[in-house]
Amino acid sequence: ATERTLSIIKPDATARNITGKIIDKLETAGLRIVAQKRIKLSEERAGEFYAVHKDRPFYNDLVSFMASGPVVVQVLEGENAIAKNREVMGATNPKEAAPGTIRAEFAESIDANSVHGSDAPETAKEEIAFFFSDDEIVG
Ligand code: CMP
Repeated sequence: ATERTLSIIKPDATARNITGKIIDKLETAGLRIVAQKRIKLSEERAGEFYAVHKDRPFYNDLVSFMASGPVVVQVLEGENAIAKNREVMGATNPKEAAPGTIRAEFAESIDANSVHGSDAPETAKEEIAFFFSDDEIVG
């Protein structure tokens, strides 16, 4: 089925000026960008976005990293977009990411891992609504 998923190009990638290289991977995989903006998250907003991880040991580092520089937030659309995006991103830890994936090619560490993508239909819906209103999404 056609799905939408929320994608974030993280501060390590914007800092290295490789958003285009990442977008090329996404588009080549068949995903269409139906909404996109470059923003700077406050620590408060980053913490809210990742609230599901608030009890994890990596939470504070994750939040300060995500607020450390600009991010590009996107809505991606396509056939099985959630799973397809996760496939093209590769494993969370770049050391475990399959060759050719975004994280294998570009990520610096498990924290500075270049991209985020929603993990399920319900979280995709919530994460898209966290950043975009309906009129900002043009399919
Ligand atoms: P992301 O998909 O954005 O979701 C949460 C992020 O926490 C994850 O990518 C990683 O960048 C970061 N993180 C740091 N340590 C871990 C860990 N041990 N397990 C999962 N995520 C981690």
